[in-house]
Amino acid sequence: MPATAYVNGRYLPLAHAGLPVEDRGTQFADAVYEVVAMFAGRPLDWAAHRWRLRRGLAALFIEGAPSDAALDAIAQTLWRRSHLADGLLYIQVSRGTARRDHGFPAGVRPNLVMTARPFDFRQRLAQQQEGVAVVALPDQRWKRCDLKTTGLLGAVLGKAEARRLGAFEAMFHLEDGTVTEGASTNLWMVASSGTLVTHPLSARILPGIMRETAMRLARAAGMAVAERPFTLDEARTAPELFLTSTTGPLLPITRLDGAPVGTGTAHAGRPGPVATRLATLLWSEIARQTGWRP
Ligand SMILES: Cc1ncc(COP(=O)(O)O)c(C=O)c1O
Repeated sequence: MPATAYVNGRYLPLAHAGLPVEDRGTQFADAVYEVVAMFAGRPLDWAAHRWRLRRGLAALFIEGAPSDAALDAIAQTLWRRSHLADGLLYIQVSRGTARRDHGFPAGVRPNLVMTARPFDFRQRLAQQQEGVAVVALPDQRWKRCDLKTTGLLGAVLGKAEARRLGAFEAMFHLEDGTVTEGASTNLWMVASSGTLVTHPLSARILPGIMRETAMRLARAAGMAVAERPFTLDEARTAPELFLTSTTGPLLPITRLDGAPVGTGTAHAGRPGPVATRLATLLWSEIARQTGWRP
């Protein structure tokens, strides 16, 4: 059976992989993680993911994680041993294993886990043509959403509620109506001026890698981008909405709380031209970096 997991020095089938019961990630969500898209065996935006992992480790004061060179080598070996082409590489670094106590334990080494799983990016093309539905839900997460920790219960409950309501994703908002992000995606609005608007980087949102890539490509193509908060009311009347994420890369939002997005435009309830153009730019960037084409 191909190795699809790596745990602290061992490559093994996922079903045989595990961590000690007193792993701090399990007991306290004292861990950071990354999800990297692998296209034909090549990672997309690898340096950016590694940077975000390091940033999270530093913010949590987790010391002693493997070097960048070691992470590169492990990721490459795992992918080769998994015999996968397209898929998702999951990386998790916890503070380590120690007797349960809230304070930081002395003298522990981080636990490093990686898994390799297949993922069908082509299904996203169909979803991109169709568009997806979102529902507005209160953002019930903690106040450090900029850190990609495994403490995901707010996101898990939001995603479950969105799915229960027949939607693909949640549109999280604060009490004052400010839209933050999705449960596992960054959210964007196209204003009536044509400017692309997304919540600015802050502790309220994850600095999404695809958000950054989308912003860079949009600006390079001459599209106006504003990093500013927008409200649910604005979203309800916006000509276009869309979301970005590693597994996306970009999906147009065509229904918000059951109502068609872009009412009054030629594309009401269907993907709009701005989102479609940016999605094309993102697929081209994926091809440029990895050689992958749908
Ligand atoms: C809360 C949240 N926001 C945004 C994203 C998108 O980030 P990325 O583009 O790095 O996948 C994710 C990804 O999982 C997420 O969990």
